[in-house]
Amino acid sequence: AAEQVVAALREECATPAARLDGVAAAMAGEMAAGLAEEGGSKIKMIVSYVDNLPNGTEEGLFYALDLGGTNFRVLRVQLAGKEKRVVKRESREVSIPPHLMSGNSSELFGFIASALAKFVADEGHNAVFNDRQRELGFTFSFPVRQTSIASGTLIKWTKAFSIDDAVGEDVVAELQMAMEKQGLDMRVSALINDTVGTLAAGSYYDEDIVVGVILGTGSNAAYLEKANAIPKLEGELPKSGNMVINTEWGNFSSSCLPITEYDEALDKESLNPGEQIFEKLISGMYLGEIVRRVLLKISLQSSIFGNLDQTKLKTRFILRTPDISVMHHDGTPDLRIVAEKLADNLKITDTSLETRKMVVEICDIVTRRSARLAAAGIVGILRKIGRGVPGDKRKSVIAIDGGLYEHYTEFRQCLETTLTELLGEEASKSVAVKLANDGSGLGAALIAAAHSQYLN
Ligand code: BG6
Ligand code: GLC
Repeated sequence: AAEQVVAALREECATPAARLDGVAAAMAGEMAAGLAEEGGSKIKMIVSYVDNLPNGTEEGLFYALDLGGTNFRVLRVQLAGKEKRVVKRESREVSIPPHLMSGNSSELFGFIASALAKFVADEGHNAVFNDRQRELGFTFSFPVRQTSIASGTLIKWTKAFSIDDAVGEDVVAELQMAMEKQGLDMRVSALINDTVGTLAAGSYYDEDIVVGVILGTGSNAAYLEKANAIPKLEGELPKSGNMVINTEWGNFSSSCLPITEYDEALDKESLNPGEQIFEKLISGMYLGEIVRRVLLKISLQSSIFGNLDQTKLKTRFILRTPDISVMHHDGTPDLRIVAEKLADNLKITDTSLETRKMVVEICDIVTRRSARLAAAGIVGILRKIGRGVPGDKRKSVIAIDGGLYEHYTEFRQCLETTLTELLGEEASKSVAVKLANDGSGLGAALIAAAHSQYLN
């Protein structure tokens, strides 16, 4: 019975190139529909109001807040202009207490503002502002309907956040209010998504970067679009002729996607049923949970896990993506590490080598599907902007950040080989991917600098 469960999983998660081509085409099509009009697609294609990527002349001391990944970060970045380009970066990482992710808005923003206030209070003479107001770039990694470079209302929460009273509110106003309560005199000069920050920071160092992708707790991508390819853009077109678009591809869905009973059940029991379907297939928050669901089914239908107390195995999100990564990379001949993980996390203590191999295969099936779908998403964006296609000589670099890409080697390798497979040997020579570690904080500071109130 166990073999049957795995065989069915293998088949349902299969992502042959033809299927992925369909995913890429559907992604490109949805992108165009989302640019045509507001609500034109499930992918929101959010206008970021960032119409220029950093050019290296950004100067001064700026702050950044980064909320939405595993950790919340506060940063201070010294930007030294074109010649020096020296960036001094100091940061502090704080984990968000889980109860704040589903509490109320003022508690969450109060927590963030107080972490920022402490950071500022501790800086002493490291930061001298004279009579200038401190300025801040706010990376808020959720779908926001941007109303200007420094304002926007929360459309909905994603990932593990769910705070009802914040939906529809201007997140900058909330932050500003919380900062005032802390006695902190700071101006929010820019509100950005983490993908936009990753794109901006990436292109600060490498002008060939055209797409910023996050593959972490959640997944999303932003890219530089021609303003005249955005029919829904209102008012005067930006002088640069460009606009960064935050695709919010996590909410993509299509009949081409390989969806299993485990994905359906996961979605149904999630904080946001029916939403973020692409994200639920590929991002770090969910991969471990999908594997857990498969293991539970096996345990219900067979006796290969011995006489098992299923309490742990029935606990949602008990198996995290870093856990499956560790099992997947187990190089010991007897899969000792897999045995340890199964015992520690799921109380599965009695397994044969055969069974442990099967567990590794399940991790492999789920992770390969994820990496291959992510690659198809990237190809969809490249097709939309005519990059990485035969005859295109321009170099196109994709900046990627997020724990899944950074730490899960099998995932990263699979994504990279799938890109080559889908683009073709020749065209793929002009395309490269690059880890843009912790870029979005720097990106927020750079964009804040470009929109500083002290620019003439
Ligand atoms: C960080 C970025 O490096 O990666 C964040 O600065 C982003 O803005 C995060 O949200 C995503 O990573 P993870 O894996 O923590 O979700
Ligand atoms: C979720 C958010 C999106 C963010 C992504 C990566 O998909 O909706 O805004 O960019 O996670 O953090």
